[in-house]
Amino acid sequence: MKYKYETIADTLREEITGGKYKAGDKLPSVRELKSRHQSSVTTIQMVYESLIVQGLVESVPKSGYYVSEAIPPILPKHQAKKQLPDVFFRDNLAAITKHPEKQWAEFNVAMAGDLLVPQKLILRTMQHVIREKGTRLLRYYPSNGSEELRIQIAAQARQHAIFLNPENLIITDGALQALYIALSAVCMSNDIIAVESPCVFSVLEVIRMLGLSVIEIPVDPEKGFDIDFLEAAIKDTPVKAVVLTPNFHNPTGKMLSDTGKKKIIAIAVEHSIAIIENDIYGDLNFSGDRPRTIQSWDESGLVLTFSSYSKTLAGGIRLGWLSPGRFFEKAEQLKFSLGSTVAPVYQETVCRLLETKSYDRHIRRFRMQLAKQARQAIVLLGRYFPEHTFFVPPQGGYAIWVRTAEGTDMQQFYAYCEALGIRFTPGTTFSLTPNYSNYFRIVFADAFTPLREKALKAAGKGFRDL
Ligand SMILES: Cc1ncc(COP(=O)(O)O)c(C=O)c1O
Repeated sequence: MKYKYETIADTLREEITGGKYKAGDKLPSVRELKSRHQSSVTTIQMVYESLIVQGLVESVPKSGYYVSEAIPPILPKHQAKKQLPDVFFRDNLAAITKHPEKQWAEFNVAMAGDLLVPQKLILRTMQHVIREKGTRLLRYYPSNGSEELRIQIAAQARQHAIFLNPENLIITDGALQALYIALSAVCMSNDIIAVESPCVFSVLEVIRMLGLSVIEIPVDPEKGFDIDFLEAAIKDTPVKAVVLTPNFHNPTGKMLSDTGKKKIIAIAVEHSIAIIENDIYGDLNFSGDRPRTIQSWDESGLVLTFSSYSKTLAGGIRLGWLSPGRFFEKAEQLKFSLGSTVAPVYQETVCRLLETKSYDRHIRRFRMQLAKQARQAIVLLGRYFPEHTFFVPPQGGYAIWVRTAEGTDMQQFYAYCEALGIRFTPGTTFSLTPNYSNYFRIVFADAFTPLREKALKAAGKGFRDL
């Protein structure tokens, strides 16, 4: 329940942010508000104090209260989402990572199954690297990462018409650190950024930790990222950056067309907005050629692209990269301030896998295997879940985004699965606001063994019986 002063403060805040009072305008006196809200002087003073703390109001001695000259950005009510309290983190982390008492089948973590990770190849290469480099692996490496590795990353990308400048690449501790650096290079806390909705929880968490406000841009399971919505939103909101995953968005598996990618650049240039592009699933296409990145067409420097080898090699290899466009200098400083670079043994291992083309050979097999598993997941979902369960086959990546009938009691479904030791990712973890309660994500990056198929059948039965 709210205190009276909070309710009055909410009304006054809306009048200020809605434009009734402009910067520098005098606000109603304490006496005026007291009689308008039939309240006490103390209550009205508390109203003003709370608005002063929020930076909306200034007090001028012997004169009264005025709208602050530097009002925080006005957020359109239907789109802007305030930061949520820490409970968001705790609840979602628990929903995603908690291990059930029983463990039968996990469909919730976006990680390749042990047998799909090229274990032998990675370990063999690592041993080779240790023998070859010896104690040099124990030294500090350049903060931006090994030069040879950056050259190899650029060479691998060039095969797909993606041109990266090795001198402008920064090696990072996975994709999330790259995102952290990219956002910090472009934004300050309280800036507004646009982000996909649904959006994977770990990405939302980085955004939240940096104190940014967000506008959620829908990613339609059929039509993909809604560019028209983005254009409409930025007309009346000062958006600083857009964070998006154009190639095989997690969780929908959608890919943005080349036309859409070029349109995003045009929007960025017209409005001077940075585009932060997550290409972590870019190598995992199920058909056709490896898609290009938005940055591969960009001449403005406003596009920052990042990726990592967590999804293509192994989650435990904490190695990603950032190509920060015109924000290189700031990004380089930020990387330095986060401590030294990724462990040299990982850098040399990935470098060698790229150099010998072992990475390319692995990817060719791996993405075919993932495509096969996606088809199996589709068949099994169709077979065991009710007809009104809706999903669109993914074009690449690791996941299927499943919509169930409105009003389905998903908590009961999760509790039923939990008791059996089966886990999916709850839809609610994919937004900063209460959305997607009738959705869940299923990850198909582990093989459908008879045991896992049985688990899916049992989950489907529980779902039908709800
Ligand atoms: C879209 C997306 N971005 C980033 C990450 C995190 O990547 P990393 O482990 O390399 O930090 C994930 C992992 O689930 C992801 O799905």
